[in-house]
Amino acid sequence: MLEALNPQPQDKILQLMALYREDPRTDKIDLGVGVYKDATGLTPVMRAVKAAEKKLWEEEKTKTYTGLAGEPAFNAAMVGLILGDGFADRAASIATPGGTGAIRQALELIRMANPKARVWMSAPTWPNHPSIVKYLGMTGVEYRYFDLATSGIDFDGLMADLEGVAEGDAILLHGCCHNPTGANLSTDQWTDVIALLQRKGAIPFVDLAYQGFGDGLDEDAVATRMVAAAFPEVLIAASCSKNFGIYRERTGILIALTSPDRKAVVQGNLNFLNRQNYSFPPDHGARVVTMILQDQALAADWCTELEEVRRNMLGLRQSLADELRRATNSDRFDFVAHHRGMFSRLGLTEEQVNVLRQEHGIYMVGDSRINIAGLNAQTVPVLAAAIASVCG
Ligand code: LMR
Repeated sequence: MLEALNPQPQDKILQLMALYREDPRTDKIDLGVGVYKDATGLTPVMRAVKAAEKKLWEEEKTKTYTGLAGEPAFNAAMVGLILGDGFADRAASIATPGGTGAIRQALELIRMANPKARVWMSAPTWPNHPSIVKYLGMTGVEYRYFDLATSGIDFDGLMADLEGVAEGDAILLHGCCHNPTGANLSTDQWTDVIALLQRKGAIPFVDLAYQGFGDGLDEDAVATRMVAAAFPEVLIAASCSKNFGIYRERTGILIALTSPDRKAVVQGNLNFLNRQNYSFPPDHGARVVTMILQDQALAADWCTELEEVRRNMLGLRQSLADELRRATNSDRFDFVAHHRGMFSRLGLTEEQVNVLRQEHGIYMVGDSRINIAGLNAQTVPVLAAAIASVCG
């Protein structure tokens, strides 16, 4: 039987992670996978997470099963963090193994409810989006998003493409900190996109993996909240991997907003999907997140540390833009300072990306996406000089 299997294409981001690990050079620079690193190159366990884990170890009396949808307190705290107050009666939800788990469950829910629904994704998007859509046998459609000439949004192209949306199609939108480009819609542009999608009868599907990494916790949720208020039905896949730094704990949530009288049926379908795919969702990370969000002191400390992380990335953006200005003697890369989140797409060719890896030991994804958080004060000028040398 197994000899019938064909080799699978490798995930480009994870492949790069492996290549980096194998590289013996000691001065190599990892700007690949989206993981936050501090100035020493460490992905730290956040203080509030450590404190909550200690308390949990002391107080936890059982590890018996939780609810099929996860602990209700986690789901309620996450709905509050993402949407604020006022959505409890519309929000069905399940805890999931990370943001990827939430995306997978959302797509399965869409397919169950409407097998004909197409899934619209920005060009470009996180490579695992189209990969899962294809794996589930669903139809994916691209809409224009990024303008390589300006490294900003191709808004005319986006609006023109979304005119092709059919009623019931799902539109995957990055709630903040677009991955891989770092270019984000303005509030006015969100307003226009929402009006267009309302006119089309589309189902918005928001991927929110970086809340708190762009402009701030509430600021990064503004677009998601606008969408939630504007549509009767919305799917939101959110991750705690980055903003709580608990990558390997696999902590995420899928929220399905519906009408109060449909909520029980939608919740039953979400529970069913959890049961079919893995029964109970992972609990440790979710419990830690709940403890933090429910404890004023822990929540305040978490917000402070997250803010430090965010400001550090903003500082790195500015210094990289400044260094690139100096090194290339041009404003070609000024957009790096205006982008938000962990990533920016630099607009280099695949060949230039390969030279950076082979000759300079600098690892970035093939489409020239860099993880800003992979940099520090020492490596910013090294990267800028290397980019200037391949562009020269
Ligand atoms: C990334 O885009 O680098 C992250 O979301 C990690 C991943 O799983 O790809």
